[in-house]
Amino acid sequence: MLGDKVRLEQVFLNLLANARQAMEEKTERRLWVRTYLDEDRPCPVTVEVEDTGVGFAAEDREKLFRPFYSTKQARHGTGLGLSISLSIVRDHHGEIEAVGTPGKGAKFIVRLPAAAQAAPTENDHASSA
Ligand SMILES: Nc1ncnc2c1ncn2[C@@H]1O[C@H](COP(=O)(O)OP(=O)(O)OP(=O)(O)O)[C@@H](O)[C@H]1O
Ligand SMILES: [Mg+2]
Repeated sequence: MLGDKVRLEQVFLNLLANARQAMEEKTERRLWVRTYLDEDRPCPVTVEVEDTGVGFAAEDREKLFRPFYSTKQARHGTGLGLSISLSIVRDHHGEIEAVGTPGKGAKFIVRLPAAAQAAPTENDHASSA
């Protein structure tokens, strides 16, 4: 894929920091990062960050991405991480899906367009002109 390396790095650092913080109080701490191409989707480039942290309830799923929504102590979170991450991913024409199980863990799935879709080449322009 093509994208802004620095901003995309920020997305994954945010997700990893959230996973770490979600597992702070847990005895079993596991983190998985998976990357793969999901050819059946319009945004096939996939990165999953999954943890065995506190998770979240289904009804809170939409709230997570709101600016300043945070369940952390004041000194820990401003509640901007996911909101900024979603903006960055949307700027790349991608999406973020959040899946959580209360008390068990959470998974954040980032999906991004493949390079050919994201950035047409000179040849694409020539052939469509
Ligand atoms: N991996 C996760 N497991 C469980 N809950 C999560 C996870 N990631 C995010 N959340 C929930 O979503 C909220 C918002 O996350 P977000 O990253 O936007 O803000 P924050 O981590 O609280 O603060 P900041 O990222 O600004 O330091 C968190 O406070 C937490 O309640
Ligand atoms: Mg955060």
